[in-house]
Amino acid sequence: MPEPARCSAVVCGVGASLPAHTVSNEDLAAQLDTSDTWIHQRTGISHRHVTQPGTSTADLATQAAARALKSAGRRHVDAVVLATATPDDQLPATAPAVASRLGLHEACAFDVAAVCTGFVYALATATGLITAGTAHSALVIGADRLSHLCACDDRTTRPLFGDGAGALVLRRGTPGEPGSTGPFILGSDGEHAGLLRAPHGGHLRMQGPELFRHAVTRMSTAAQAAARAAGWPLQDIDHLVPHQANARITNAVSDRLHIPPHARLSNIADRGNTSAASIPLLLSEASADGRLQAGHRLLICAFGAGLTWGATTLTWPALPAHPERSQPCTTT
Ligand code: ACO
Repeated sequence: MPEPARCSAVVCGVGASLPAHTVSNEDLAAQLDTSDTWIHQRTGISHRHVTQPGTSTADLATQAAARALKSAGRRHVDAVVLATATPDDQLPATAPAVASRLGLHEACAFDVAAVCTGFVYALATATGLITAGTAHSALVIGADRLSHLCACDDRTTRPLFGDGAGALVLRRGTPGEPGSTGPFILGSDGEHAGLLRAPHGGHLRMQGPELFRHAVTRMSTAAQAAARAAGWPLQDIDHLVPHQANARITNAVSDRLHIPPHARLSNIADRGNTSAASIPLLLSEASADGRLQAGHRLLICAFGAGLTWGATTLTWPALPAHPERSQPCTTT
């Protein structure tokens, strides 16, 4: 019998960053054999934010993290865990540069690579650092620029992906306290790695319909398992917070879980699939615009290339109002 945890990791700050430049479906239809109607009906996406040359993953991650620290009223954390599939260099990891730019000199800092599930993996990792006593506080960041891995002439990937970053600050707390991260369900299946792959120096290649089926099955199963592990009946969930891959995927997952339409958080229409950034970006925006209220029970689930998947629960904490939380990045 495992010993009950003596402490928990508690969310105490949230922030996000988006590049200022947006690309509409009409912009894409002017360059590719596609249309606004096709993209909107098949994905739910209308716009996505895309970084211009000169804006790095570290730029987005640093701005989201700075905003999260400000919302937490903190200047310091012991650890920076950055989920990204688009690090600025093959090595070193991007997290130490982000920590340094935030003035977090000597903080433990590393990247987690699990593509669109990266944020859930990073949240689980940071929770482990805190509950093991290795860190008292941590920044968990998801930042990606997958738009830059899409070939210019690829109508199957370019409509889907956008860029952005989101971040949470975690501190040590007591088990069950509002903001405590719940049990984590994590998994992978490398046999299907070829369904979404970008070889070194190459572009994304995707088998969309097959990925779609895996995404629905894996996200619903993981979400159900996380709710069960937390002892939360599905009807008590205030919001499902799914990775934003495609509105049809998130609706299919919600339908399987019997989550009613008003309890499905989404921002895909204006953000697209921002990979590891999608869940913290959505949390940040929903917190800023009032959809998330203190005490709401959230069921978080993600799916990504790998294949990877993960889910957890979170009772949203009371956070001070912070108007900057989801405003676009000032860089290009
Ligand atoms: N515009 C117009 N037509 C298109 C486009 C486009 N952009 N893309 C494909 N089509 C065509 C196809 O060629 C096909 O034509 P055909 O019937 O003549 O053969 C038709 O539209 C239907 O294509 P499908 O691929 O079957 O369309 P589907 O409804 O499956 O939608 C999509 C495609 C949006 C890619 C969907 O499969 C999907 O979202 N899959 C999951 C993708 C995903 O989530 N990837 C990320 C995983 S998470 C991560 O780790 C990053």
